[in-house]
Amino acid sequence: MQDPRPAPSLDVFARRKREGTPLVVVTAYDLSSALIASAGGADALLVGDSLGMVMLGHETTLPVTLDDMVHHCRAVQRARPGLPVIADLPYGTFHVSPAETVRAGLRLVQEAGVHAVKVEGGRRRADAIAALLDAEIPVMGHLGLTPQSVNRLGGYRVQGRGAEAEALLLEEAAFLEQAGCFGLVLECVPAALAVRATASLAIPTIGIGAGPGCDGQVLVFHDLLGLLPGRPPRFVKQYAELGRLGIEAVTAFAADVRERRFPTTANSYGVSAVDAPGAVGTDESTGPAYGGGSVAGGEQPA
Ligand code: KIV
Repeated sequence: MQDPRPAPSLDVFARRKREGTPLVVVTAYDLSSALIASAGGADALLVGDSLGMVMLGHETTLPVTLDDMVHHCRAVQRARPGLPVIADLPYGTFHVSPAETVRAGLRLVQEAGVHAVKVEGGRRRADAIAALLDAEIPVMGHLGLTPQSVNRLGGYRVQGRGAEAEALLLEEAAFLEQAGCFGLVLECVPAALAVRATASLAIPTIGIGAGPGCDGQVLVFHDLLGLLPGRPPRFVKQYAELGRLGIEAVTAFAADVRERRFPTTANSYGVSAVDAPGAVGTDESTGPAYGGGSVAGGEQPA
């Protein structure tokens, strides 16, 4: 069936900057995160290579492959989020040659349906960015703490401190705008520097650990929802504690199973409605695919 919503457009980035309305970007990696982030009112979804850490359990984003990105972007698009979807070009895909860069970008657009890619780094990515734009693939830039540079940076540290580093970041930001990027992620830089960068650019800045002065903000889905254990970094605000709620839910399930309180007749097939007060729908219905039943779904009604 035709989707009645307007086609997702990257125009929202320029529009929000013009209007002075903050952009809201949330990372998404699969069906459920895309459904939740879009229903929550995000302006755009970023399939970040942070998926390597929060979904796949790697210690850095470096092991994330193009196949990983395609796999997760396709799941995000299956949610039909109705929003622009931007995908990280993973480490190694834009470092060898412009031809390889374009091939990687094309896979994300053609196989996974993303609308744009994000490339970490400044001037040294000039050829990669030019090649992507030449292939009609819009590019978002990313400066400051670029996690793919973790080995060169010597860890995950605030960047752009000191006059020289500040000047360099402002130069790199101006370069990325001139190169044709439609937006720029600023990660873990001093708030005052992000304000200067934002004021100096016609394209929007999207901050993460860059203070309140950016044109928009992005958070990692798992951080925002408090899904994983451990103390989050200072720049994160956790709006929920879903990890804790999940543990409580599984604990309750385990107790119910061990005490034989679950399943009841209400959760069982082949018992009459009288026997099963609270049973959902008809005796044999398995519920909707999302929002009441399970995506994995189990059996379909005969
Ligand atoms: O990979 C990612 O999720 C990102 C955001 C943190 C900006 O690059």
